[in-house]
Amino acid sequence: MMLASEVNLPALLTREHHRIHLVGVAGSGMSGIAALLLELGHDVSGSDRVGSWETDRLQRLGLRFRAEHRAEDASDAELVIFSSAIRESNPILVNARIAAQPLVRRAEALAGIMSGKRGIVVVGMHGKTTTSAMAAHVLREGGMHPSHYVGAEIPLLGSNAHWDPRGEYFVAEGDESDGTIRFFKPEHTLVLNIEEEHLDFYADLAAIEAVFSQLLDQTSGSVFYCADDRHTARICGPRPRAISFGFSAESDYRATDIDLKDFASVFSVFRRGERLGEAVINVPGRHNVSNALGVIALATELGIPFPKVATSLGHFQHARRRFEIKYQSERFLLVDDYAHHPTEISATLATAKSAGRNRVLTMFQPHRFSRTKALRREFGRAFDQADRVVVTDIYAASETPLAGISGQTVADEISAHGHLGVTYQPRLDRLHCDVGNMIASGDLILSLGAGNIHEQLSLLAADLVIAERLKGIVGEEGDVRLYEPLAKHTTLRVGGPAQFWVEPRTESAFADLIRHCRRENLALFVIGRGSNLLVRDGGIRGVVVHPCGGDFDKVEVSGDEITAGVGAKLKQVAYAGKAAGLGGLEWMEGIPGAVGGALRMNAGAMGAQTFENVLRIRYLDEEGNAHTRIPAELDISYRHVPSLERNYAVSAVFKGRPAAAEEIARRLDESQEKRRTTQPSAKSAGCIFKNPKSIPAGKLVDELGLKNTRVGNARVSEIHGNFIVNDGNASATEVLELIAKIQETARKERGIELETEVQIVGEEG
Ligand code: EPU
Repeated sequence: MMLASEVNLPALLTREHHRIHLVGVAGSGMSGIAALLLELGHDVSGSDRVGSWETDRLQRLGLRFRAEHRAEDASDAELVIFSSAIRESNPILVNARIAAQPLVRRAEALAGIMSGKRGIVVVGMHGKTTTSAMAAHVLREGGMHPSHYVGAEIPLLGSNAHWDPRGEYFVAEGDESDGTIRFFKPEHTLVLNIEEEHLDFYADLAAIEAVFSQLLDQTSGSVFYCADDRHTARICGPRPRAISFGFSAESDYRATDIDLKDFASVFSVFRRGERLGEAVINVPGRHNVSNALGVIALATELGIPFPKVATSLGHFQHARRRFEIKYQSERFLLVDDYAHHPTEISATLATAKSAGRNRVLTMFQPHRFSRTKALRREFGRAFDQADRVVVTDIYAASETPLAGISGQTVADEISAHGHLGVTYQPRLDRLHCDVGNMIASGDLILSLGAGNIHEQLSLLAADLVIAERLKGIVGEEGDVRLYEPLAKHTTLRVGGPAQFWVEPRTESAFADLIRHCRRENLALFVIGRGSNLLVRDGGIRGVVVHPCGGDFDKVEVSGDEITAGVGAKLKQVAYAGKAAGLGGLEWMEGIPGAVGGALRMNAGAMGAQTFENVLRIRYLDEEGNAHTRIPAELDISYRHVPSLERNYAVSAVFKGRPAAAEEIARRLDESQEKRRTTQPSAKSAGCIFKNPKSIPAGKLVDELGLKNTRVGNARVSEIHGNFIVNDGNASATEVLELIAKIQETARKERGIELETEVQIVGEEG
C-alpha cells in the first residue's frame, strides 16, 4: 500500500485533477467528500452496497456510482478513499493494496482538501454538526464565501459539503469516532465538549484526550473552547491562543439572561465584560446557546461585526434530525432527534420537557452493539425525563452483534433504574404502533437514535394527520385511536392493530365517516364486540369503526317492540324483553356478541336465528344514507346476510311475544344452562365452523378425535369441538393453522368441507 505520506495529498486533491474512487460513497460523510472532489474537478467514481438519495444527487453532479463493490471499477483510480465503516476484506481495498494504489481514509482526504484553505475544525462529542453548520452559515452571511463539510444534510447550506473557490476559509466538522481528527492541521479549532464515547475505538478517556491534544498541537491559530465542559477546559485552557466561551463569568465570550422559549432562545452576549448585544437562535435548548456562543466567538474574532453575526444566527435553521419537528398541532408535537449517546439523550429530553407539553413519549433505537454494551448503565439513567419509553432493537451500523446485548438490555437498565414506563418492542416496524397507541392530546412524541428510527416517526406523523381529520368528524364526544390492538376487542383475544380505530357516538357521525372514507379512499371495517371475529396478526389497515355509546348502546321497549342500537349486547335485548314481559328472545342470552354482529351474520342459538325476531332494521349505505328495511326486503340465509356486507346496520327493532314471567325465566335459564354446560368459558370466537348439512361441526371434530389438538397456544376445546380456545397469548397465525389442520382432517377422513363461520380479516403479521 502506498502511504498517504508518499503522495502530496493537498496538491493532488486541490491543485490537480485525478481519477478518484470512493469506497462506501453513500454514507453521509463520504458523500460530502465526493461532492467536494466533483466541485474540485476530479473524475470521481464511488461504490456502496446500496444507493441513496445522496448518491442520486451526486450522480447528477457527475459521480459514476455502482451499488456493489467491484475491484475492476476502481482499478484505474489514482487515489482510493475509504470510509471507516468499510471492512478490510472489501475487494476494492484488497485490490488497491495489491496494486499499490494510494489509499487513504475519509478524514485524511478531508484534511488534504482542507489544507487548500484556511481550516476551521469543529470537534466535540455532541453538537458538532449543528455548530459547524452554524459557523459555515454565519461566515457565509458575513461575506466570507467559506467552503464547508458537515456531517448531515443542511437545507440552509444547500448540501452537506461545498467547495467555494472564492473564499479563504474551510469549515469542517471533525469526527472523533475513529481517531482520524489527528489528520487535521487547521488554523482554528473549536472544541465543544469531551467525554467518554466511542469506547469501541478508544481504550479510555485519556486516549480520547490524547487525540484531541494532538489536534490542538497541530492548530496554528486560535483554540475556541467551551469553558463549562470540565475536560475541554482542562485540555484547552492552558493553550497559548485559547479563547473560552460559556455561561460562567470567567469566559471570554459569555451568555447571560438566557430566555429559553419553546424552540428558540434569546440571550445577551458579553465579550470580556463588554456587552456586545442580544442574540436569538431558532434552535432549542441551553446546549445550543452554548454552541451558538462558540460560533459568535469564532466569527467575531474573524472580524465579522457582532450585529451581522447576530442577524445571521437568527436566520439559522436546524439540521435535519436535530430536534426536527415532523408534525405540530395544538394537540400533538412530533420531534425527531439523532441523539444516541446518553448525554445527548438527556439533553434532548430536557429540551422536549421544556416545550411545556403534557407528556413526553419516547421511542429509542440504540446505535451500535459496542456503545450499548459500554454505556448500558448510563442509558439506564438517561430517560428520567421521559414519561414513556419504547426501546427497539439495536441499529448495528456494520457491527457484528454481541451476545447478550440487545434493545432488551437498554429497556432492562432503564427499568432497573426505577422507570415505570419502559417497554421493549423488538420489531422496529411495530414501534410507531406501540407509541402511537399511547398518545393522548397534549403529548410530545420523540424519536431518538442515529439509525433509521426516524422512519417510524414519519409513519406515525402521516397517520396522525389522517387521525386528526377523523377526530374532526366524530367530534369531542367520539374517540379516535391509532393502532388500537384488536386483540383487546375480540373475544378470542388475538389480532394485530387497527390503523385507525374510530368510535362514533351518533348516526350522523357514522354517516360522515362513511362519506369521508369513500372520498379519501380509506378502507372501512365495522367491528362490534368482536365475538365472531378472527383478526390476523398484521391487523387491519384503514378505518375500523366501533359504533358504541350514545344511541348505539340504547335498548328501548315500546309495546311488544324492542329497539336496540348495534352496539347493545344481544343479551341486553333478551333481558329487556324479560323486564317487559316479552319472550321469544331468550336464545339471545347464549350469544356473546352485539346486535350489529348478530344482524350481519344472522347469528343463532337454540334452533333460533336473529332475523326470525327482527321486524325491521335501519342501516347506512355506502354513501352514508340511512334506510329502513323489513327482513323480506333483505336476502337472508343461514349465518349469512349479503346485503349487510356492503351496508352498515345502526339499529334493529325486535318483536317480542308476550309471555309469563316464569316461562321467560325458565327459557333464559335453559339457554344459560345449555351454554354453561356445552360451551367453554375460555377465550374463544364462538363456533369456528358452520354446521355442515350432514353433521354438526362440533360433533364431527369430536368424532375425528381432534379435541385438545393444539398449535402453540391455540387449542380445540375439550368441551365443544367447534370452539378453538386461546390458552394465553395465542397468535392469529396459530389459530389459522389449527383451523387448517381441522379442515384437512375432515376432508381426508370424511370428505367434508368445513366452512368457517368466524369472520377472518386483516393482514398477515
Ligand atoms: N356435539 C358433540 N361434541 C362436541 C360438540 C357438540 O358431539 O364437542 C354434539 C352435541 O351433543 C349436539 C350437536 O353436536 O348433539 C350440536 O351441538 P350443539 O347443540 O352444542 O350446537 P352447535 O350446532 O354446535 C349451535 C350454534 C352455537 C349456539 C349453539 C346453541 C352453529 C355453528 N353454532 O352450535 O352458536 O350457541 O347452537 O344453541 O350454528 C356461534 O354461532 O358462535 C355459536 C356458538
